[in-house]
Amino acid sequence: MFSSAFKTVSIFFLAALPAVLGATHDVVVGGTGAALLKYTPESVDAAVGDTVRFIFKQKNHTATQSTLENPCVRAPGGFHSGFIPVADDVTDGFQVAEFKVQDTKPVWVYCAQGTHCKAGMVFAINPGDKMAAFKAAATGSAAPSSTAPSTASSPATTPSSTAAPKDIKVVVGGTGVLAFNPSNVQANIGDKITFEFHQKNHSVVASSFEQPCVPVAGGLNSGYFPVSEGDTIFPTFSITVNDTKPLWAYCPQGNHCGQGMVFSVNAVEGGEKSFSAFQELAKSINGSSTGGYGGTTTAAAMSTPISSVSALVAAFLAVAALL
Ligand SMILES: *[C@@H]1O[C@H](CO)[C@@H](O)[C@H](O)[C@H]1NC(C)=O
Ligand SMILES: *[C@@H]1O[C@H](CO)[C@@H](O)[C@H](O)[C@H]1NC(C)=O
Ligand SMILES: *[C@@H]1O[C@H](CO)[C@@H](O)[C@H](O)[C@H]1NC(C)=O
Repeated sequence: MFSSAFKTVSIFFLAALPAVLGATHDVVVGGTGAALLKYTPESVDAAVGDTVRFIFKQKNHTATQSTLENPCVRAPGGFHSGFIPVADDVTDGFQVAEFKVQDTKPVWVYCAQGTHCKAGMVFAINPGDKMAAFKAAATGSAAPSSTAPSTASSPATTPSSTAAPKDIKVVVGGTGVLAFNPSNVQANIGDKITFEFHQKNHSVVASSFEQPCVPVAGGLNSGYFPVSEGDTIFPTFSITVNDTKPLWAYCPQGNHCGQGMVFSVNAVEGGEKSFSAFQELAKSINGSSTGGYGGTTTAAAMSTPISSVSALVAAFLAVAALL
């Protein structure tokens, strides 16, 4: 039932990969002295196909995507470099996160460390004439504090009479982790589920309760997202929930499914078709011919490094463009 969304993503994804090399814009994140709580420069104007390279210096910062309205809150599905601590005595070999520019829309970025954002540690790609407004909203110099009711920035504090659609984040994998986390979620129609792919090389594919490790024809299939050990920007893939029927899914890599790497939406806990019953079934057919596993071994798949973070970011952007 997720097939049409997936096809669109594939097209964007494939189209994004052979993008011609554009210009590179270096942005230093933090540093010493006056640069400590700054991105230098604070904004860049970039063309489609350009690459923005975040070079992480002292102390312990992030590059995290937000919105003009909420400069210090991560945008749903927005990119996040993770925290990158850099000791005071480091002078070279700084870690870099690359961001491939997919369109000319503004991209708003902040540092998620402590109060750095409120101290004005923000950055933008193609801000147009809105940079000052973005920074003012971050520091609160234009907008009142988050507790004050107003036109301003925080949806979290805005009371809502209708049940607003939720954005449910699911982390897929991670170093030494063969699981979806959380692995069973309850969602309403209109809710968005964003899969954030961590190490190593996973995919989310719809199956059925009866055959946990066998794909459903035409069902959800995110494709594989290989993520290398050192990567700190994680690609995402989102779906919108259209009905309240349970959705069963698994990771088709190697025998991840047989090791219990399965996921469900709206499974009935306590019922016959609970998440744990589904997971037990997946584990019980580990290695059997009904599993429908691909031939690739997990170890082989994991040892292949990805060619560049940019490709993953491009994939992320392609997905983001659909949201
Ligand atoms: C929800 O419906 C839309 C429109 O029919 C469709 O494009 C999308 O793939 C559906 N999403 C899911 C998760 O089935
Ligand atoms: C970097 O900051 C994060 C978030 O505050 C923290 O969890 C982490 O321990 C810090 N790392 C170092 C080495 O200080
Ligand atoms: C990810 O896994 C898929 C399926 O096993 C494989 O085709 C692909 O080459 C892997 N990618 C990397 C970079 O390991």
